Amino acid sequence: MDEIIIEPKEQAEDKNFDLTLRPKFLREYIGQEKIKENLNISIEAAKKRGEPLEHILFYGCPGLGKTTLAYIIGNEIGGEVRVTSGPAIERAGDLAAILTNLKDGDILFIDEIHRLNKVIEEVLYPAMEEYAFDLIIGKGPGARTVRLDLPKFTIIGATTRMSLISAPLRDRFGITHHLSFYEDSEIEKIIRRSADILNIKFDDAATNLMSKRARKTPRIANRLLRRVRDYAEVKADGIITKELANSALEMFGVDNFGLDQVDRKILESIIYKFNGGPVGISTLSAVTGEEMATIEEVYEPYLLQLGFLNRTPRGRMATELAYKHLGAKIPKNLQERLI
Ligand SMILES: Nc1ncnc2c1ncn2[C@@H]1O[C@H](COP(=O)(O)OP(=O)(O)OP(=O)(O)O)[C@@H](O)[C@H]1O
Ligand SMILES: [Mg+2]
Repeated sequence: MDEIIIEPKEQAEDKNFDLTLRPKFLREYIGQEKIKENLNISIEAAKKRGEPLEHILFYGCPGLGKTTLAYIIGNEIGGEVRVTSGPAIERAGDLAAILTNLKDGDILFIDEIHRLNKVIEEVLYPAMEEYAFDLIIGKGPGARTVRLDLPKFTIIGATTRMSLISAPLRDRFGITHHLSFYEDSEIEKIIRRSADILNIKFDDAATNLMSKRARKTPRIANRLLRRVRDYAEVKADGIITKELANSALEMFGVDNFGLDQVDRKILESIIYKFNGGPVGISTLSAVTGEEMATIEEVYEPYLLQLGFLNRTPRGRMATELAYKHLGAKIPKNLQERLI
């Protein structure tokens, strides 16, 4: 298999399904209740006043629904959503072309906004604050600035790495929302919804089992669903049962907490090679052969969320829960070291 099944980042196969599975309106979006409530108020208020929506920044782990929310907001306010990303805007001219083509009420969605370069960031400030773009014409002493008026648009930025966004940029967003991991019951609802849309039949026990292994992440839930369906198509027909779902997930190497080989390799390294830790992220990367960024963005957030890992100033430590999950003997002084 050439793709990691529990990888929360978007893969080619997910794209095709996104069109059918993405909720289009806030009422179809499952979970993140506080965010939905707040967005609803912001949207209604903007509509009433006839003003553009404030700029919004979403941050959170991959696959939790940031892009989905951007499209939903577009649908709710009846504006068009133009999509770009931090690394795609290379020159100020690129940005000018995008911005001057927007209409009042449109949305510019900038994915991976932490990767915008500094020059672009600076021209973005007046665009965000005053709907103006300062175009520099010519070079050297003869250069002059022409101020272009822009339509009343809204920027929605998304990032998985809030800490990499500069403070001045962050401050220019009127609204910031942090997407958190989903409850298992919410993931279960997402699986049911997607199964209905794709016309896949699971029994309740099967959806329940899958909801616990999707790393609290909608994108992974949808991916597990498709994989289990494919497996079932070969192995059985009719309704997918818990037993069938279980053997499919076992074959994919996904355990009952949704951990795969790499998660286990990370935990095993900390436990067996470093006696539970603390161990620095670069050392961990070297012994597991996984990139540091991948560990930090993909594996660690979920292990922290499960309470299998602790972050201390001296490095990562495995917790008692992790020892128990792997069936390893818990060292006597583990608790003291965790503090
Ligand atoms: N709240 C939700 N309810 C139902 N489905 C959801 C929800 N959030 C996300 N999804 C599903 O999960 C998929 C992934 O979500 P999305 O692409 O919005 O994640 P993202 O946060 O933008 O990820 P990335 O950081 O990788 O860009 C979507 O295609 C959608 O089908
Ligand atoms: Mg996205």
